[in-house]
Amino acid sequence: MLNETVFIGGKEIANRVVLQPMEGCDCNEDGSPSELTVEKYLKAARSGAGVVWFEANAVCAEGRTNPRQMMLTRSNLSKFRTLLAEMREIARKECGVSPVFILQLTHSGRQSIVPMIAYRNSVYEEKRPVTDANIVTDEYLDTLPEKYVASARLALEAGFDGVDVKSCHGYLFQELLSAFDREGRYGGSFENRTRLYFNCIRAVKEVLPDGILLTTRLSVSDMVRKPCGFGTTETGELDLTEPDMLIEQLAKEGIQILNVTVGNPYYNPHVNRPYRKGGYVAPEAADVGLARFEYIEKHIKEKFPSLTVVGSGLSYYREDLIEQSERQLREGICDMVGYGRMWLAYPMFYKDHLNGEFDAKKCCLACSKCTELMRAKRVSGCAVFNEYYRNLYKEIQK
Ligand SMILES: Cc1cc2nc3c(=O)[nH]c(=O)nc-3n(C[C@H](O)[C@H](O)[C@H](O)COP(=O)(O)O)c2cc1C
Ligand code: SF4
Repeated sequence: MLNETVFIGGKEIANRVVLQPMEGCDCNEDGSPSELTVEKYLKAARSGAGVVWFEANAVCAEGRTNPRQMMLTRSNLSKFRTLLAEMREIARKECGVSPVFILQLTHSGRQSIVPMIAYRNSVYEEKRPVTDANIVTDEYLDTLPEKYVASARLALEAGFDGVDVKSCHGYLFQELLSAFDREGRYGGSFENRTRLYFNCIRAVKEVLPDGILLTTRLSVSDMVRKPCGFGTTETGELDLTEPDMLIEQLAKEGIQILNVTVGNPYYNPHVNRPYRKGGYVAPEAADVGLARFEYIEKHIKEKFPSLTVVGSGLSYYREDLIEQSERQLREGICDMVGYGRMWLAYPMFYKDHLNGEFDAKKCCLACSKCTELMRAKRVSGCAVFNEYYRNLYKEIQK
């Protein structure tokens, strides 16, 4: 099933394999791909995947998480165009596929270099202190749809096949979803808290020609107790009441692919990327997290059949990856399967599988040392199977 073709909005996607956005924090300061970024994406092109979902790309300089976050601009457009053209050529020659490239558009909000927060949040502020001066004004938020549109137009010029208006992992749009106590046009009621997200989606949709995909990556629940998180009860249990209202509206607004994710990796990383190894001690068993993903994805797929659902969190499965992916497709849990850490560790896993050469020894260990590199403000990649990042990891250990 993984290798079945999918048709979305008239676009043909060669198979159901999605390489999830994986930020490398390795772009040049102007936001263009560096040698390391190019190396990573050329590997993605060789993988045979139907979709390469590019990492978080800031729509404005103040919304970057770090000075090396990807940021497509008019002045570096040609570098993106060259990269995409090279990727297409490689994918065609080496895998016989024409992959779909999606660019993830983001504003990092609380995780920006200077935090830009939606409201004071006692749970998150234990880790990164802020003051009222970090709260973004309504007037600032009003300017963002224009910035998303400008980035989406550039993405089209660069040759992307779709854009993702991202709302996940605690970044600005996601944080606004739980701005219950914020005053003004962007806080309080459900309509206000979702206003900016939908304004950006509508504005971007208007400039996308037919055949270009409109997508979103959504943290369906932050798994942080209400009122500090979205999609939960006051005691932090999953509550899909508001996520259902949100997703219904996303479907009405013309979102074609919903890339499902959960949690906030700065606060509860085990929710978003179940751990098998490593120093982090998760407060829940990995099975619980894996089952939560499946429950949410199946719920959405059944309730909103017009959406193409991409599943997440499967790198944990290691040698059982393909079997588990096929099972999820067969059982109607998702329509396409997304791989994050696995493709950093073992970019050729899918092509090797097709050739009967899948090698369990090359599979991701689900240790998240790659995340540790990011948190240590280094460039990020697989610190287990790639010598360059392994050496960097040794340095941060020292
Ligand atoms: C180093 C690293 C960078 C990531 N960068 C992004 C990103 O730019 N955008 C995003 O939506 N998710 C990002 N994620 C989350 C992954 O896309 C994925 O959802 C997560 O790793 C769980 O899937 P997995 O179990 O297959 O790894 C990142 C995760 C890691 C470990
Ligand atoms: S460091 Fe490598 S093996 Fe460990 S989780 Fe990241 S990609 Fe997987």
